[in-house]
Amino acid sequence: PVTAVIVVAAGSGQRLGYGMPKAKVPLGGDSILTHALRGVAAAGIAQQICVAIPPGDAELRALCEAFAQELAAAHRRNAATGHALQGPVVTVVEGGASRAESVRAAMAALLPGVESVLVHDAARALTPESVFHRVAAALGAGAAAVIPVMPVVDTVKTVEPTTGAGAAVAPELVTGTAPRESLRAVQTPQGFALDTLKRAHEAAAGFDAGQAALVTDDAMLVELLGVPVHAVRGASQSLKITTPLDLVLAEGLLEGPLG
Ligand code: CTP
Ligand code: MG
Repeated sequence: PVTAVIVVAAGSGQRLGYGMPKAKVPLGGDSILTHALRGVAAAGIAQQICVAIPPGDAELRALCEAFAQELAAAHRRNAATGHALQGPVVTVVEGGASRAESVRAAMAALLPGVESVLVHDAARALTPESVFHRVAAALGAGAAAVIPVMPVVDTVKTVEPTTGAGAAVAPELVTGTAPRESLRAVQTPQGFALDTLKRAHEAAAGFDAGQAALVTDDAMLVELLGVPVHAVRGASQSLKITTPLDLVLAEGLLEGPLG
């Protein structure tokens, strides 16, 4: 299927705490966004790469344009050696106040003819090609929705705030323990038939602020439609750079044996 990859990079990076959008933060001599875009291009599955950046961010727009030049130059070299592959079109859009709004802005800028779409966090800048390939392969095999997942290493519990006398003991009370074997930590890129993702986001457009705040990925919107979501193996290198510790890990991955 004609495939686009949406790269959402319009977040502000509060938790990383660099005082700038996370996409711009340096990683191994380049920006987080440049690493993410190179990873998408290297996977070779996209006819279009559509990037959502923070509104009015000229620096990130220039960075996307530099990446498009880099792709065009690589394409010319390939053409000269007879290995011409049609390079992807790079499109830049302004994202929204939430991740879901950024995804919707990017969907509105997809080329006619796009049938399937992978939505990827720029913050997962070091995602290996193999993960893109597994997601794309499941889409090619007929899945309408597919996500990369990892087993959960920690035991995960649900809690509620402690009330009454208990509050003097500890702030939270455990309400249950989820069986770890059936839990998965979810990554990106998440792949969808475009019509499915569009329907899922149309349903979410009517959410109130409280409901909207609970939307942390695209697959959960598809789940609400009752469409089956398939899971393939993710990768530890796909960690989402969220906190300063994650950035240390990512730098280490670039230098180390997994880089
Ligand atoms: N994102 C986006 N538009 C938003 C919010 C987030 O495109 N309005 C993107 C981010 O750029 C990131 C991905 O969604 O690539 C995952 O979000 P997250 O890791 O939470 O990034 P930030 O929102 O930038 O970070 P923080 O929540 O710490 O501010
Ligand atoms: Mg965020």
